[in-house]
Amino acid sequence: MSPEVMRMRLFIALELPADVRERIARSAAGLEKRWVSGRLIPAENYHLTLVFLGETPESRLPDVIAAMEACPSPPLTLTVGAFGRFRQRGGDVVWRRVRGGNALFSLKRRLTRELERRGFTLEKREYFPHLTLGRKVMLRTGLPEARDELPFTVGAMTLFRSDTGRSGAVYTPLRRADLSKELI
Ligand code: 2AM
Repeated sequence: MSPEVMRMRLFIALELPADVRERIARSAAGLEKRWVSGRLIPAENYHLTLVFLGETPESRLPDVIAAMEACPSPPLTLTVGAFGRFRQRGGDVVWRRVRGGNALFSLKRRLTRELERRGFTLEKREYFPHLTLGRKVMLRTGLPEARDELPFTVGAMTLFRSDTGRSGAVYTPLRRADLSKELI
């Protein structure tokens, strides 16, 4: 590929309402007391990833958007629940589980199919809906119990561009697609 192709690191995610993000951030603040070291994700960066596209040529943006718009779905009710972690050598990823029932998995499958039809190659990893709260976390003790179940409704999915700056990742929304578009 020629060197002048513009690429962007892209992912498609569901956004959370500001009040839910704040409540999750409050629950995550307690993690710091339990760790030796780690890095909390800022509340404005919380999201539920549906699909990670990775480095993508800018010229493919219209196809990504077409795939997003070809995914009718009822509005989703999601619930943020238990804390958990992915163990990693340099420090764990700490998250809270997100439940969205069959509707969430159907949306993920449909979006995957629409992207693959348009020639995108996606990771084959099993989908594990979670909200990352911290990275490189070295815990001293166990994770807290989740005291709050936080339900909320989402009516759109968002295409994000991810840029890595000196103070962490910056996520910029590029496009939102309503979920219920073709159902009405
Ligand atoms: P994570 O929070 O579990 O790391 C932006 O990086 C978003 O895409 C994050 O929600 C991240 O999930 C997700 N993602 C999925 N696969 C990824 C990958 N291979 N590299 C980076 N981020 C990935």
